[in-house]
Amino acid sequence: MADLQSHIEELWARADQVGPDDGDAAAVVLQAVELLDRGEARVAELAADGNVVVHQWLKQAILLLFRLRRMETVELGPFEYADKLPLKRDYLQAGVRVVPGASARFGAFLDRGVILMPSYVNIGARVGADTMVDTWATVGSCAQIGARVHLAGGVGIGGVLEPPNAAPVMVGDDAMIGSRCMITQGARVGEGAVLGEGVILNPAIPVIDAETGDELGRGVVPPWSVTVFATRPRRFPGGDFHLPCALVIRRLEPGQRHDKAQLEAVLRDHGLAG
Ligand SMILES: CC(C)(COP(=O)(O)OP(=O)(O)OC[C@H]1O[C@@H](n2cnc3c(N)ncnc32)[C@H](O)[C@@H]1OP(=O)(O)O)[C@@H](O)C(=O)NCCC(=O)NCCS
Repeated sequence: MADLQSHIEELWARADQVGPDDGDAAAVVLQAVELLDRGEARVAELAADGNVVVHQWLKQAILLLFRLRRMETVELGPFEYADKLPLKRDYLQAGVRVVPGASARFGAFLDRGVILMPSYVNIGARVGADTMVDTWATVGSCAQIGARVHLAGGVGIGGVLEPPNAAPVMVGDDAMIGSRCMITQGARVGEGAVLGEGVILNPAIPVIDAETGDELGRGVVPPWSVTVFATRPRRFPGGDFHLPCALVIRRLEPGQRHDKAQLEAVLRDHGLAG
C-alpha cells in the first residue's frame, strides 16, 4: 500500500496536468478508490488517543478520480443521469439491503447488514455493519459512520473532501441520530450517543451539560449520552439572540441502549423501519 500511496502523492503534486486521457494515472487512482470501495482502506479513523487520523492520500485519490473521469449519460427507464462516477454494485454478495431510490457511489464502503432506505451515500464514506440509513438521510463524502448506528429520516451527515487533511464527520458505533439532525464539518458523535431530532452539530456549536451548565466542548457529543437541540443566549451589538447548541440531558451506562433506540432495533430486525 505504501507504493500506491507514494504514487498517488506524486500524481497529486502535479494534479493540474492529470486529465481523462491519462490511462496510467487512471489505473493507479482506481486501485486506491477500489480499496475504499471494498473497505480495505478508510479515509479516517480514531487513533488510540482519541484523535482523528486522516489518510490524506486516499482523499487525494478521490479528488484525482474526478479529474480523470469524463461525464457520461446513464439511463434507467425514464430516468437519465449525467455523472463521472459509477454507482456501487453487487449489494447481494455484500449482504447489504438497498431499497429502490437509494444510491451509493463507487468508493463508498457499506459493511454487511447495512440497510439503505431511499437515501444517499457519497464516495469515500464508510458505513459500519448493521447500520440503518433511513429515508432521505445523506452520508456525505468521506464521513465515517460506525456499526449498528441508526441515521433516522432526513439526517444530513456533511461531506468533507477538501482540503484533503480535513477530518470528516465521525459517528461512533451504536449511536442513534434523530430525524433531521445536521452533523457537518468534521463534528463527532461518540459511541452509543442518542441525538434528539434536529440537533445541529459542527465544530463551532457548544455542547453543554444540562446537569452542570458546563460547556463540554464544541462539535463533539460524548459517548453514551442523550443530547437534544437547544439554544443559548448570545449578546451581539444589535441585541440578544439565541444561537443553537447541543444539550446533554442524560448519561447512559456504557453499552446501554436507550429505550427509544431499542424500539428501533426491533423494527429493524423485522425490516419494518422507514
Ligand atoms: C432524544 C430522545 C431520546 C429523548 O427522549 P427521552 O430521553 O425519553 O427524554 P424525554 O422524552 O423523557 O424528555 C426529557 C425532556 O427533554 C425534552 N425533549 C425530548 N426530546 C427532545 C428533543 N428531540 N429536542 C428537545 N427536547 C426534547 C422533553 O420535552 C423533556 O422535557 P421536560 O423534562 O421539560 O418534560 C427522544 O426524543 C428521541 O428518541 N428522539 C429521536 C426520535 C427520532 O428521530 N426517531 C427516529 C425516527 S422515528
